[in-house]
Amino acid sequence: MGSPVVLGIESSCDETGAGLVRDGRLLGHAVASSMDEHARFGGVVPEIAARAHVHSFVPVVREALERAGLRMSDIGAVAVTTGPGLSGALQVGLAGAKTLAFSLGVPLHGVHHLAGHVAADTLEHGPLPDPCMVLIVSGGHTSLLLVRDLARDPIVHLGDTIDDAAGECFDKVARVFGLPYPGGPAIDRTAREGDPRAVAFPRPLTGTRDSRYDFSFSGLKTSAARWAERYRLRGGELPVADGAASLQEAVADVLTHKAVAACREHGVGTLVVVGGVAANSRVRALAEERCSAAGIVLRVPPLKLCTDNGAMIAAVGDLLVRAGAKPAPLDVSIDPSAPLEYAALHPVSRTGARAA
Ligand code: KG4
Ligand code: ZN
Repeated sequence: MGSPVVLGIESSCDETGAGLVRDGRLLGHAVASSMDEHARFGGVVPEIAARAHVHSFVPVVREALERAGLRMSDIGAVAVTTGPGLSGALQVGLAGAKTLAFSLGVPLHGVHHLAGHVAADTLEHGPLPDPCMVLIVSGGHTSLLLVRDLARDPIVHLGDTIDDAAGECFDKVARVFGLPYPGGPAIDRTAREGDPRAVAFPRPLTGTRDSRYDFSFSGLKTSAARWAERYRLRGGELPVADGAASLQEAVADVLTHKAVAACREHGVGTLVVVGGVAANSRVRALAEERCSAAGIVLRVPPLKLCTDNGAMIAAVGDLLVRAGAKPAPLDVSIDPSAPLEYAALHPVSRTGARAA
């Protein structure tokens, strides 16, 4: 008997995702996004996101099953993001996943969202080497991690952002530049027309006395905002493309510089870059350039698996199932601010905690 088909559910932010994975292979997935509904507010509105998940949950699961050519009864385990993320959004996904697992009589696994981003790459490039260096760059997180066996071992944080995440920096500066939401893809598009050397934005925490693997992007954000403000005060038209290209260059430079240094120092031969910002064209190109110069193998998931999706959660579920991990109790809860320690995340519910 082979391993079971794992259904993965993702609902931590504005994407409702469902994916089906077995034995490390993606069978089918579907994503619905409420991004357009948030655009006029310039950022994700938690209540709107939660309501959109209620709306999309069943259609997205059905679509993923259709694409995989499977039926509900083929699902052998369910994995769901239990944190971190928006509380209401996470609760919709967890409630749906519990209902499916309970009614199908199959095990449920709680998954850390960021471990999902890491596992996304395995669907395209196969199992991760042990050890590997992982750079996670998303809207809410920026971390450099030393990963061994994702399903079994603790995840070692070499560095994290001490303030804003890289994606957050793109999103906030894009707003100041008058670009549409979400800011990251807009900066990426606009930067194509600009000169990355036009503005000398700072490279935070890259000095010799700075923390080697921590990140900081709030100073860079402020510096970009000041640059825009100076132009506007002079009444001139903002050279947005130059600003976008220069900002993108600064972010890509810092991220790849630290990631390659971490690989070298720890003798790790593979760098995996994941999360929404791994979709950035300059981050990808500079990582490729610097890794190949340093003899490091670079792995980056395909674009559609970089941003939030259910396939990546199913990928973690599949690894957990095959590693014989203990499923979550059915009173498992969510943890909106869960630190990344293990890929499995099973916060106890309030009633569970009281009973314990
Ligand atoms: O991983 P993700 O989909 O959601 C979180 O878990 O946060 O990442 C979303 C972030 C946003 O900040 C978005 O602006 C950024 O990823 N992003 C990009 C690009 N595509 C998405 N940033 C720069 N360039 C892109 N092409
Ligand atoms: Zn994410």
